[in-house]
Amino acid sequence: MNIKDYLEQNRLAVDRFLDEVSPSATTPPTTLHESMRYSLMAGGKRVRPILTIAAAEAVGSTHPAGLMAVACSLEFIHTYSLIHDDLPSMDNDDFRRGKPTNHKVYGDAMAILAGDALLTMAFDLISRADLMKGCEPSRQVRIIQELAYGSGNMGMVGGQVFDIQAENKDIDLPTLQNIHKHKTGMLIRAAVRMGAIAAGATDRQLDDMTGYAENIGLAFQIADDVLNVTGTREELGKNPNTDAERGKKTYPTFYGVEGASKLADDCVTRAIGRLGTFGPQADPLREIARYITSRKN
Ligand code: IPE
Ligand code: IPE
Ligand code: MG
Ligand code: MG
Repeated sequence: MNIKDYLEQNRLAVDRFLDEVSPSATTPPTTLHESMRYSLMAGGKRVRPILTIAAAEAVGSTHPAGLMAVACSLEFIHTYSLIHDDLPSMDNDDFRRGKPTNHKVYGDAMAILAGDALLTMAFDLISRADLMKGCEPSRQVRIIQELAYGSGNMGMVGGQVFDIQAENKDIDLPTLQNIHKHKTGMLIRAAVRMGAIAAGATDRQLDDMTGYAENIGLAFQIADDVLNVTGTREELGKNPNTDAERGKKTYPTFYGVEGASKLADDCVTRAIGRLGTFGPQADPLREIARYITSRKN
């Protein structure tokens, strides 16, 4: 199967599952549920859940117990992070996933609360007996812990703090790399590791998967920086040029668009290099790595 079909099929499966497990917009509190669904079902690429699925496949297990709940928990966290990232007190963006941002439609208070509820629901999903049926308890606890670590103060939230504190400052490259590693890299790292753990990866396999994930995580955010300069609102579903407007230093600030793109490609090469001991069942992971720097949105 080519990567386009692979991404499309898995995206549809993820969308179906997200729709099934999300509270109906007619269930009280209706405005909260409407607001959660507004951002969750707005058509993201679903890269993180697809990475979880592909990591499980690479380890040789296509349907480990609870895989869809594990994969989709990442999309709940990611969507919450986007809603909060767009708030006026953070990046102050008014367009996301091709639509007005959550707070533009529902107001700041409801956007904060929708993010809070999505975050909480992510952990509900991976601790539920029905959705995780058949998953060995010690494995399930490790998965929950990976999500907590990757998304919290030592992970994505920590990265958002570094990012906000660096605005309008003359930061150096290691500081920028540290921002990217945390704000974007740590959730991607969790996505890959959670899939690998669900599938019963050995320590060695998990180590290689982690190396893969850290490299594609950095590549993903460098590509996001590049697209912020080169993309259009129609392609991206969000406004371009916002990093410069907001005084954010990015990879193109340091290296230009071409230099930054080259660095992202180097990360992809390194990522694929870490998959050397995996057979063809890791091809989707290899192709996703290439897709990360060739994507247009
Ligand atoms: C955007 O993430 C924010 C970053 C962490 C770079 P995505 O590019 O995965 O956004 P969606 O989910 O497709 O909207
Ligand atoms: C987003 O980073 C990171 C998180 C939401 C955790 P950015 O602020 O650079 O991403 P976009 O460009 O708004 O999607
Ligand atoms: Mg941001
Ligand atoms: Mg932003």
